[in-house]
Amino acid sequence: QTLDDLGEIAGQIALVRVDFNVPIGNDGAVGDDTRLRASLPTVMALRRRGAVILLLSHLGRPKGKPNAAFSLAPVAKTYSSLLGDEVHFLEDWTGPGAQRAVSELEAGDVALLENTRFYAGEESNDPELASAMADLADFYVNDAFSASHRAHASTVGVARLLPSYMGRALEDEIGALQSATGLGRRPSTAIIGGAKISSKLNVLEQLSTKVDNLIIGGAMANTFLAALNKPIGRSLAERNLEDAALRILKSASQGKCQIHLPQDVMVGRELTPHPLSLRTALVEDVAADEMILDLGPLTVAKTLDVLRSSQLLIWNGPLGAFETPPFETSTFAIAQAAAELTRKGSLTSLAGGGDTVAALNNSGLTADLTHVSTGGGAFLEWVAGIALPGLQVLT
Ligand code: 3PG
Repeated sequence: QTLDDLGEIAGQIALVRVDFNVPIGNDGAVGDDTRLRASLPTVMALRRRGAVILLLSHLGRPKGKPNAAFSLAPVAKTYSSLLGDEVHFLEDWTGPGAQRAVSELEAGDVALLENTRFYAGEESNDPELASAMADLADFYVNDAFSASHRAHASTVGVARLLPSYMGRALEDEIGALQSATGLGRRPSTAIIGGAKISSKLNVLEQLSTKVDNLIIGGAMANTFLAALNKPIGRSLAERNLEDAALRILKSASQGKCQIHLPQDVMVGRELTPHPLSLRTALVEDVAADEMILDLGPLTVAKTLDVLRSSQLLIWNGPLGAFETPPFETSTFAIAQAAAELTRKGSLTSLAGGGDTVAALNNSGLTADLTHVSTGGGAFLEWVAGIALPGLQVLT
């Protein structure tokens, strides 16, 4: 059900799960307010209809304990300026005073609740915490696609206890993903980068049964190369996951998916801007004191060939150490090619994940892709066909 299915809500209290997990600088300023802006259509719609709005979100991973470094207080300030109105901040929303504080809010008021992950019960989906959330409100709205892959109290537990609806940002996100993937465009290519296989193991396995090409880059590729007995020197890798990497390669080779690993790489002895030790090496030829820091030109050229013959691109994760020049080279080359092919109409391109979106923003190409998701893990799981518990509970 969407906001259009809500009846009369004037004076009612809406508990809206947003994802305000945003970068906050040492000065308390929000680094990227995309996720805050994404929630405005839902908040404005509920305000116009006279509801009181309680916003619920996590920030970072404070491990179930209050921690000032992960407080949402600075986010409430930024949100006030985006909304052009006061945003109340409720630090304690489970204690005896919480009900009273909420009852003092008036129709159209917006309040942000302190970080849900200050409570251990959030991640364990503790029924007591979910009831404490539900007791504050009359109905629940999930507007946090990017947190919907987590089965937590604020995404699943509370949704079982209150009448629940999809917010506008969630509806838009799912609509965009469905229309991009729904037509079965083939050949399909997933480009997966980033540092860790461990966080994407399940997704890689699923994707390798779904797409025609799986291109692996970033530090994640190093684990695959090491598993294939290639020398990776001092490169970042998860040695304990070499077996998992081999399993993925094997299952892909039995199906229709072709896995593409780097053939050549940019290496250096230190990760500093333009290191003197920078050179291009074949993957058989990385020295013991070198680190793989980006894809090499041969691999980039091959990746672009695959993209040119693809109809659908799913992209998550940078392909090199893109924050340190010149190791953004392959990530930017691929962003540029994806943007150009999308503009020409030959490619439908989907991208998601904090670093990928940052790289796209830096190169000014975000608007050229078919859809840039607000989600990272949630985006990947959705495109891999894994059911998201926060969405399942709404249906
Ligand atoms: C994200 O940034 O992808 C979401 O907010 C989820 O955060 P998490 O990985 O800490 O659950």
